[in-house]
Amino acid sequence: MKVLYAVSEARPFIASGGLADVAGSLPQALRKRLIGCRVVLPYYGTMPEELKSSLKFITHISVPVSWRRQYCGIFEGRHEGVIYYLLDNQYYFKRDQIYGHYDDAERFAFFSRAVLEILPHIDFMPDVIHCNDWQTALVPVYYTTMYASREGYENIKTVFTIHNIQYQGVYGREILGDVLGLQNADAPLLEYDNCINFMKGGIECANRVTTVSPTYAKEILDPWYSHGLDSILREREWKLQGILNGISHTLYDPETDKNLWAHYSAEKPENKAVNKMKLQESLGLSVREDVPLIGIVSRLVAHKGFDLVEAVLEELLTTGDVQFAVLGSGAWQYECFFREMANKYPEKLSFTQGFYPALAQQIYAGSDIFLMPSKSEPCGLSQMVALRYGSVPVVRETGGLKDSIHDSANGGGNGFTFASYNAHDMLATLRRALDGFKNKEGWGILMKRAMECDFSWRASANEHIKLYKELIRECGHGMDLAGF
Ligand code: GLC
Repeated sequence: MKVLYAVSEARPFIASGGLADVAGSLPQALRKRLIGCRVVLPYYGTMPEELKSSLKFITHISVPVSWRRQYCGIFEGRHEGVIYYLLDNQYYFKRDQIYGHYDDAERFAFFSRAVLEILPHIDFMPDVIHCNDWQTALVPVYYTTMYASREGYENIKTVFTIHNIQYQGVYGREILGDVLGLQNADAPLLEYDNCINFMKGGIECANRVTTVSPTYAKEILDPWYSHGLDSILREREWKLQGILNGISHTLYDPETDKNLWAHYSAEKPENKAVNKMKLQESLGLSVREDVPLIGIVSRLVAHKGFDLVEAVLEELLTTGDVQFAVLGSGAWQYECFFREMANKYPEKLSFTQGFYPALAQQIYAGSDIFLMPSKSEPCGLSQMVALRYGSVPVVRETGGLKDSIHDSANGGGNGFTFASYNAHDMLATLRRALDGFKNKEGWGILMKRAMECDFSWRASANEHIKLYKELIRECGHGMDLAGF
């Protein structure tokens, strides 16, 4: 079976969020299970030089973008045994930022069209093209409108995964012809709320739609979560399914992680304390093993639940013996808030603005509790990493947080959870966790249970394979298992 995974970012080449982690690890997990999976992404100017120089040039083609034709260089790279195709056009992709340009619609229309155009040139005709988020949502649209009956393309099936429904790729209707190269008759596939909506097009045209957790798959049918797309999703519910993401257990491993001061495991957790003290020291917090240290590693944006934190943090800092290590950047409001708290309570709260991967790992390893009170969280990977490093998650029951973290109140759970989006519910839950921390023996058991949770790609890869097989069976053509 051959799967082409089309995506706008993938580690180690380029990353702006969790999507890149998924695209950098799910294909390896599929490949280990004998599924031929290759990845295609844009060749960005900002990729690390050593990676760029390791790429092999294959050929170049010209890709139609409405009435224009644009150069498309095809480069090939390898990461952990998986082939990655990087599609080059410097006019579109040699820019400082990967997203946020006035012509993003055209850039990703070009890329989506190119994904289909390169197929005869890469010696890999996929059974399934798996697209991700609005940037590749036009692949199923172009496939349906222009390629489905082209020779050699007839049996391809498309899957579209929503990693975050908040970002849909919404543009004026005028782009339909001159930018996307589509006919007026195709407009209903993409039109939504009097705009062109890329994500809506992906939902309409893909054979199957997935999202990154079973709970989020239900939530996005509700207007509170759907950012306007609930009615179209309810109509298409029959093809929607949630598959929880995984994390790489080799990349995230406290026994081997080079960023840590000392290594440890669920069986030998003693050295976690070394990481805690070193972290406290390096962040200027008072160095004490007995005080519970709460970690936050996040983009500082509203949907991550920071208005709850803002509402009660000072109450917690002034009434409880507790410390915080916060790492992140985002909205000015939250950056200012955490900076102010760090200035006011320097021994109790440290705030590092930005994103530093090494410090992130040190916070996972050095903290006792990991806070993620998200308003919505399609999947969330940080809570899975926190579990692996023995930092017990405190989360709101939403999306992938609900599917991966279960309250330990009735025994057997791996964290602490609260349901309603309410600051004092969060505070009460944090206090339950802080009380739990005081019972050293009980906490040790909980920590071990957290570390033993298996959120590797195993289950997720198997579910993806099941989905691909179902699609191919529906299509009724033979499967070539040695597809890579
Ligand atoms: C997006 C979502 C996040 C998810 C990630 C990978 O970044 O916001 O919850 O874990 O995609 O699917």
